[in-house]
Amino acid sequence: MRTKIIAGNWKMNKTYAEALTLAAGVRDAVKGASHPGLLTLIAPPFPFLAETAKLAEDIPGLHIAAQNCHQENAGAYTGEVSASMIASCGATHVIIGHSERRNYFGENDATLLKKTMLTLEHSLVPVFCIGETLAERESKKHFETIAAQLENGLFPCGKEAMKKIVIAYEPVWAIGTGVNATPAQAQEMHAFIRACVEKNSGKEIAAAVPVLYGGSCNAGNAASLFACADVDGGLIGGASLRADEFASIRKSMLATLA
Ligand code: PGA
Repeated sequence: MRTKIIAGNWKMNKTYAEALTLAAGVRDAVKGASHPGLLTLIAPPFPFLAETAKLAEDIPGLHIAAQNCHQENAGAYTGEVSASMIASCGATHVIIGHSERRNYFGENDATLLKKTMLTLEHSLVPVFCIGETLAERESKKHFETIAAQLENGLFPCGKEAMKKIVIAYEPVWAIGTGVNATPAQAQEMHAFIRACVEKNSGKEIAAAVPVLYGGSCNAGNAASLFACADVDGGLIGGASLRADEFASIRKSMLATLA
C-alpha cells in the first residue's frame, strides 16, 4: 500500500512565535492519533525549519519540508537557500515547482529538474508540484500540460529517482480560490499522472509513487477527495494555517486507514 501523506504548506505566513505555536498544535494532533501508513508534513518558511524540526524530532510520522530550494549547491547567490542547508536543519522533504514559484519567480522545467536532482543528492524527498491553469483546462489542454511538466521537469531524473519522489497535483485554478477540483476531476488526473509514471518508469514504481492533491482542500471536502483510489493525500495551503482544521483534514485520511 502507498504511504499516505498530509502536508501543510504554510507559504509566507506566520511569525516565529506563531509558527512554533502552530507546529506544536500539529505535533499534538499527530501524537494524539497516528498510523504507520500516514506521514504528516509541515512546510514552514525557511527561518523556522530548524526549530520546527526540533519539535518534530521525537514524533514518528511527523516530518518537516522546505517550500523551495536553490538549484545550485552553494556559492554567491545572495538571499538563496541550498538543499544542504535545508537538510542540515533537520528537514526531510522539499516542495519543488509549486505554481507560485513557477508563476511569480519564473521557475521553468530546466530549473526544477536541477532542484529535484540536487534535493535527492542531499537525501531530501522532493514533493514535485504540477498543475494546469484554468485556460489550459478550458481549452482541454490539461492532460498535455501535466504530461509535459512531468516529462521535462521530473522524468529526466531517472528511474531510481522516481522511487523516491512524491508528486503533488495542484490545478492552478484551485489554489487559494475556494474552488477545489471535484473528486472525479482529481481522480481522473491522478490516474493519468500514474499512467505517465508507468510509461516512463514501469508498473511497480507507478504503483508506489504517492500522488497528493492540492488546491482548496479543507476539512469539508477532504474526505471525498481522499476516498479516490489514486489520491494519496493532500498538499494543504490555507487550511494548514490552523492546527484544528489541519488536524481534522488528517483525521479524514486516518479514517481511510482504519
Ligand atoms: P490552498 O493551497 O490549499 O490554499 O488552495 C494549496 C497549495 O498551494 O499548496
